[in-house]
Amino acid sequence: MGADFTVTLLNGRKTDVYFLSTIKELSAKLSAYGRRVLWVFDSNSAALFTNLPANSVILPSGEKNKTFSSIEKIISAALDAHLSRDSVFIGFGGGVVCDMTAFAASVFMRGCSLILVPTTLLCMVDASIGGKSAIDFKGGKNLIGTFYPAKDVLISSACLRTLPQQEFISGMGEVIKHAFLTEDDALYDFLVKNRNAILKKDRETVSEMVNMSLRVKASYIERDPEEKLGIRQALNLGHTFAHALETTANFSIKHGIAVAWGLSRAAYCGAELGITSRELQEKIDSLLSLYSYDIPYRIGRGEWLDFYSSVGKDKKRLQGGVKFVLLEAQGRPVLRELEQNLVKSAVISAPSRIS
Ligand SMILES: NC(=O)c1ccc[n+]([C@@H]2O[C@H](COP(=O)([O-])OP(=O)(O)OC[C@H]3O[C@@H](n4cnc5c(N)ncnc54)[C@H](O)[C@@H]3O)[C@@H](O)[C@H]2O)c1
Repeated sequence: MGADFTVTLLNGRKTDVYFLSTIKELSAKLSAYGRRVLWVFDSNSAALFTNLPANSVILPSGEKNKTFSSIEKIISAALDAHLSRDSVFIGFGGGVVCDMTAFAASVFMRGCSLILVPTTLLCMVDASIGGKSAIDFKGGKNLIGTFYPAKDVLISSACLRTLPQQEFISGMGEVIKHAFLTEDDALYDFLVKNRNAILKKDRETVSEMVNMSLRVKASYIERDPEEKLGIRQALNLGHTFAHALETTANFSIKHGIAVAWGLSRAAYCGAELGITSRELQEKIDSLLSLYSYDIPYRIGRGEWLDFYSSVGKDKKRLQGGVKFVLLEAQGRPVLRELEQNLVKSAVISAPSRIS
């Protein structure tokens, strides 16, 4: 079976992306990787299997387990199973499992084959392609990692059946971001037209949406595989606001939900500066409202100092300043430093444009 599409990264390394409609089709594809395989799950993704395959590691779920000690567990299991460099690591789970499996695969015997099976929407549309592997270290998110693209990414929207709705809505934040990172209105129109089916996680509709969304991400990473040319940074649209909000809220707000809010705040700043048209700002806010994100949300005045110091710590700080991604037009991102007062008005006191 041929791949649905292929992403070409650094040094011609390719990731083949396959869409599989049912768990049965997914299992058939997975069985073709043979026996020299190590499976990595977390406690929730493992529950999608009635009988776990041989050579499985089940890690506890959650970001707090994205650590060296989990990598040690993965590599120990690979050694216990007498696997070597010609073996395959399969990461089966959300972004945490996939990032860690990729990191472990990149260092095990100086690199073995990597297959990713994303089971959250966020991982399907974002973490599964692009080659970034990572673990957290000393309180810093994704501080240690490698560029190590998966050979294959297998996507089945059937895996989302058990995903909690809040996790699904979080993934939708990244999908909506992608809709505004392309000049083509196809994804935007699809999201407007199919809202109900999407929110009900209708398998075929979600699969088509993930396919369109992932192609937008692929178009950026292929042009800037190592994030050195400023092109791939566009994928951080909304993220500087989002990271600061997540930190201020002690990570009680899910990442993609913070990204949706950040997208709206970036559109506001762009419009205030005359970079983004008011029409595009309205288009962004209306789509976010259609998916019930709390766009009028503002941080309390007492949170401002914490919020702004988190903005300063954002890893996208370049040459001393923090660059925000703004939109010159749909699909035309630009990087800009923003005055403190503008950021403040965007997150504390800006009037909502939603009527
Ligand atoms: N590598 C990249 O380019 C990249 C991009 C974006 C995000 N990330 C990383 O991804 C992580 C976030 O990913 P995430 O949102 O998938 O988080 P996650 O992996 O923690 O998954 C969220 C929750 O859903 C559970 N879960 C997963 N699949 C499930 C299923 N099918 N049914 C029920 N529960 C399920 C998980 O156990 C977890 O509790 C972060 O660590 C982030 O840094 C990486």
